[in-house]
Parts: sequence; C-alpha cells; structure tokens
Amino acid sequence: MLVVISEAVKRFAAPEGGFINALDSVSLDVGDSEFVTLLGPSGCGKTTLLRAISGFEDLDSGSITIDGQAMEHVPPHKRPVNTVFQNYALFPHLSVGDNITYGLEVTGCPKPERKKRMADALELVGLGGFERRKPRQLSGGQQQRVALARAIVNRPKLLLLDEPLSALDRKLRQAMQLELKNIQDELGISFVFVTHDQEEALTMSDRIIVMDHGRVQQMGTPTEIYDAPASIFVAQFIGESNLFEGKVSRDGNAVMVETEHGLRLFATDSAGALTNGGRATVLLRPEDLDLAKDDDTGGGDHALIDATLMQTVFVGSDFQVVAETADGQEIKATIRDPSRRLATHLTHGAPVRFRYRHDATRLLPAETAS
Ligand SMILES: Nc1ncnc2c1ncn2[C@@H]1O[C@H](COP(=O)(O)OP(=O)(O)O)[C@@H](O)[C@H]1O
Ligand SMILES: [Mg+2]
Repeated sequence: MLVVISEAVKRFAAPEGGFINALDSVSLDVGDSEFVTLLGPSGCGKTTLLRAISGFEDLDSGSITIDGQAMEHVPPHKRPVNTVFQNYALFPHLSVGDNITYGLEVTGCPKPERKKRMADALELVGLGGFERRKPRQLSGGQQQRVALARAIVNRPKLLLLDEPLSALDRKLRQAMQLELKNIQDELGISFVFVTHDQEEALTMSDRIIVMDHGRVQQMGTPTEIYDAPASIFVAQFIGESNLFEGKVSRDGNAVMVETEHGLRLFATDSAGALTNGGRATVLLRPEDLDLAKDDDTGGGDHALIDATLMQTVFVGSDFQVVAETADGQEIKATIRDPSRRLATHLTHGAPVRFRYRHDATRLLPAETAS
C-alpha cells in the first residue's frame, strides 16, 4: 500500500464554542497506481484529510504512512506528494512553461532536464507547444490542465486533487474526468481525488470512500457502493433511490417489509441479518422498476406496486417517471418503454402499476434519524 492512514483524528475549536470533529477516527489505504475518490457532502472532512496527507495539517492522533515511511515529522515539501487545488492560482505574469518549471527550479533540477520534463508534462495534459502563453491567454479548462502539469512535473508518487474540476462548466468537466483518468493510467501514480459530486466519483474511481461527519461511511468500487450501499445515507447520496421503511416478517430467506401505511415490499435476505418483527428499509433503485403488463398479478419472483402517475419525462432512451402510492409515498422509476405506453396512454393522474424482482431490492438496517 502506498498510503496507510490509521485512526486519524482532527478536531477544530469552533469559533461559536465546542469542537468540530473534522476527522473522527479515519482509517483507509491507497494502493499503488490506484485512483481513490473521497466523496461526501460539504464539511465532511475531505479537505482536512488531504491537508493531513500533504502535511499542512497535523493530526491530533492517529498516523499516516506514505511509501512505508511514517509522516509525523516530515514537512510538506519533503513528502512524495503534490496537490492540485480547486482555485489553482497560476502566476499570471509567468508563462505556462515557467509556471510549470517553477517548482523544479527550487529543487535544483538542471535546466535541460527541467525543459524536457516541462514539455513532457504539457504533452501529457494535451497542451504540447503552449509553454510560451500566459495564463490569461488560456481558457479555464486549459489553465486547470497547466495546474495539473505543474503538479505532476516533479513526478510525485501521490497526487492529491481537491475538487479540481468544480470551477469548470459541465461539458468541460465531463471531458476532463475521462482525461484525468487516462493521465492517471499513463503516469501510473496514485491519485486521491476529492469531490462532492457522485457522478464524478462513479466515472473516475477505482475505489470510492464515502465520508460524512468526519467518518468513513463506506469504501468500495463504484459498482459495490452503488449496488450495495451500507446505509441509508450512502444509498441517498449515490444515485437515485426509493426507500421504504417498515416492519420485517421473514420466512426463510424471503422477507416482507410492511410500511406503516400497509405497503408491502418483498425482498430476499440471504445474509440472515434481519429478525422477524424488527425494522428495516428496502431500497429500490429507479431502474429496478418496470411497468407491469395488464395481466400481471405479481407473485413468484416479483411483486407489484400500485401508484398514480405524477410526471413523465422522456430522456431519449428511457422515461423518467415520478408516481405516488395511495399513502403518498413518491416512487421514482427509470423505464425502458419501447412500446411508448408512457407517452401515449399513461398521462398525469392515471393509475400505473410497477413491477420489480424480489432480488433487485436491497435491505438496509433500520436507522434512527441522525
Ligand atoms: N481551520 C479550521 N478551523 C475550524 N474549523 C475548521 C477548520 N478547517 C475546517 N474546519 C471544519 O471542519 C469540518 C471539515 O471541513 P473540510 O475538511 O474543509 O470539509 P470538506 O472539504 O469535506 O468540505 C467543517 O465543519 C469545517 O467547518
Ligand atoms: Mg473541501
């Protein structure tokens, strides 16, 4: 493992009194050449964690090891780490080339070597030949690439990126997401990328670490996190979700969860984690719902949900549907409807019947509201 963080704790005195647990016993690791994303809402501790890795913030307790070396007494400039920030602050009066080699000069790298590395770094970020330009002669996306070139020019083992794309417009951001991933592949170094944007995290990461309130909520590959969220927080933060909280009845692995309004959801609990009479939340992703055929009576491996259609939006390949059950629970469904029933027969206020497979549901432990 390139980075090992063990029970990192960082508390700040809050100006209004008391303490903020910015990092509340965070343990994680980052592998060689791995692209890890820290994902979580604003204020969950992402920047504090990056600053602790880069050495700009001391931990109250816990440890950080990089490349087998304990970092406790290692100052920031001696760590094999570089950071790309959201506001990347290039020197406006220096050329692109000088912005990039600035850091190398300080380390005493000889001039011909500096020039070669600068040209290589610019090539890598798709700006070959731009070294004479001034930052103001570049677009926002190009400036961000220069900041990236500057951060990789001295070949750190680890690159930290703190919401580096959030200032860019949507189209550019999406293009840069794929490019960053390619650059990381090509460099073969580890990236720790910070974002509050779940789509960004899903697109780029080998592994996602979901944080909230200074704690790691879940780690896993993008598909693991999406398919098997460990909590209601993670289920809601990543992707769209329909959640049904209720009382559990089980018969072998077959589980029924009945909401307080009497809506019954069917699932399988092969882990055997739920007890009869206990409480649980059923997660159904919008794409797990389908329109039932008129003669479908449910049963077997699938079940039905009756609702009233509220809104239908055609998004090209699919319809995004919002409906409401009789007791007022909102249902979001993404439906592939080649026969265009949703466009032609089913209008606002019409009854609609969804079907889902029992094994498409996910069971989450009941939570008291946090
Ligand atoms: N220097 C500081 N002094 C006091 N509180 C801070 C300081 N830095 C961060 N915090 C608080 O610590 C928490 C985590 O902040 P931060 O790591 O910046 O979150 P994120 O990057 O996920 O938005 C927040 O509640 C923030 O207000
Ligand atoms: Mg931050």
